[in-house]
Amino acid sequence: MSRLKQTQAWLALTQHYEQIKHLHMRDLFEEDQQRFARFSLHHNDILYDYSKNCITDETVDLLLKLAHQAELPSWIERLFSGDKINHTENRAVLHTALRDRSDTPIVLDGVDIAPEIKAERAKVTSLAEKIRRREWRGVSGQPITDVVNIGIGGSNLGPLMVNEALRPYSLHDLNVHFVSNIDENHINETLEYLDPKTTFFIIASKSFTTQDTMLNAETARQWYLSLIGSDEQIGRHFSAVTSNTKLAMEFGIAGENIFKMWDWVGGRYSLWSAIGLSTMIAIGAEQFDELLEGAYELDMHFRKSPLEQNIPVMMALLGIWYNNFFEVQATAVLPYDQYLHRFAAYMQQVDMESNGKYIDRSGDEVDYTTGPVLFGEIGISGQHAFFQLLHQGTKLVPADILAPLFSYRCIARHHRALMSNVFAQTEALMRGKTEPEARQELQDKGLSDDAIEKLLPYKVFPGNRPTSTFLFDTLTPRTLGSLIAMYEHKVFVQGVIWNINSFDQWGVELGKQLATTISDELNDDEQVGTHDCSTNGLINYYKQRRSFKRKQK
Ligand code: F6P
Repeated sequence: MSRLKQTQAWLALTQHYEQIKHLHMRDLFEEDQQRFARFSLHHNDILYDYSKNCITDETVDLLLKLAHQAELPSWIERLFSGDKINHTENRAVLHTALRDRSDTPIVLDGVDIAPEIKAERAKVTSLAEKIRRREWRGVSGQPITDVVNIGIGGSNLGPLMVNEALRPYSLHDLNVHFVSNIDENHINETLEYLDPKTTFFIIASKSFTTQDTMLNAETARQWYLSLIGSDEQIGRHFSAVTSNTKLAMEFGIAGENIFKMWDWVGGRYSLWSAIGLSTMIAIGAEQFDELLEGAYELDMHFRKSPLEQNIPVMMALLGIWYNNFFEVQATAVLPYDQYLHRFAAYMQQVDMESNGKYIDRSGDEVDYTTGPVLFGEIGISGQHAFFQLLHQGTKLVPADILAPLFSYRCIARHHRALMSNVFAQTEALMRGKTEPEARQELQDKGLSDDAIEKLLPYKVFPGNRPTSTFLFDTLTPRTLGSLIAMYEHKVFVQGVIWNINSFDQWGVELGKQLATTISDELNDDEQVGTHDCSTNGLINYYKQRRSFKRKQK
């Protein structure tokens, strides 16, 4: 049995789960009018209410003990101080250094990396501001009207989510597009209405080898060359963000347009780096700084607050409570803010690529479950799609609800309606509807006794479905920075407790390797027989149909 499962706290939590699994939150709220006050925390304008979770004071105590037994405080220090905690890649994990505002040296391998971070930021800022101020001129001397970020995974989801979230702060006469899919339709649809003379590309790839990104980058370059007729001034239209400067230069990008990524920044934690170039172009350096400031403030909260007052820690512990003791498999992230419509997609990578691991830090297979399936959608849309399962399904899905208290524009009736749904859903999920309540409702509608008996079981809601609610004033860059950092740290804390490395991603390699081999096999119409019969069958079917279509033309 793993060490984790033998810790006192784990054993106590296992016992405690048996004692409280039949408690209903409805009763816990009735018994304790202070529950909201006790189980909620604040950070600046963010209120985190975790009172609608299946917990008691004892649960919290035991979860905190679990965190201490995992030596969480010392792991937090190791993270911030650049210890090489990504042991399988022998790398430090220092995305927090990118938003550090303290002016204290951040020493890695004996070198203070803070000056280099500042210098790189200055370079990015200079380009972004020139484009924004229309000083950066393309091949025909015209200013840039469209920026296309070509990247995938962390080189796409982070900046895309932030750009969407901060639309109200963006320039309206400068469009930022994101191309990630290797499916040609993505790049073709994007380029169709663009003018190469006023388009600026950012090839965002830490490795500069990702097939999807490199193919799209090549297509973009060909598009430019075919429409301009030569590679004249191509340097005015292409930039790269990468840790592989050599490959970027070989691709033809001018040295001064290549922005650095460091190996100590994981792709899914990279939006704070030059990967945020598209964001900086959209919202400007000042607002980008606010984003960093918000993240830094949260970093300080995470680093300095006692565990029981620490929002990311409490988020993580609740996740562990459900994941490992209730044996819950999924968790939902549900923003009630249209600007956060890519938040769940982004969090999916942060969480699932980080903690979707079955081997622990000692190289042994774990005997407990790790990262959950994370999914999500704009809350209101989810209500009309999958909330049925949240309310009456057979699976327990703890959900995070995020909502702004104030809207950018002032159509009060919209915002009031939005917020009423936030409050209603969390209450409904927690309370449910009892049989007597459902019966009364049907009687009030005048249904016959017979009809009531038939309908009644369907009208009962079990309730006791956990939600945690995050309310914040308005989605400013600063608040967004804090929210993102909150989730990043939650994922880290869970990784510490599960004793896994949250910062590598070996699991994405196998598919990539096979795709390279198969890609070669697709070059001709020869039938293949080197795979299992399903894969052979699929490949050969594709080849046959392709060849048939070709002959038809
Ligand atoms: O395949 C997964 C992954 O390596 C992610 O971790 C990463 O964010 C993404 O691909 C893109 O990688 P790169 O920035 O090197 O192109």
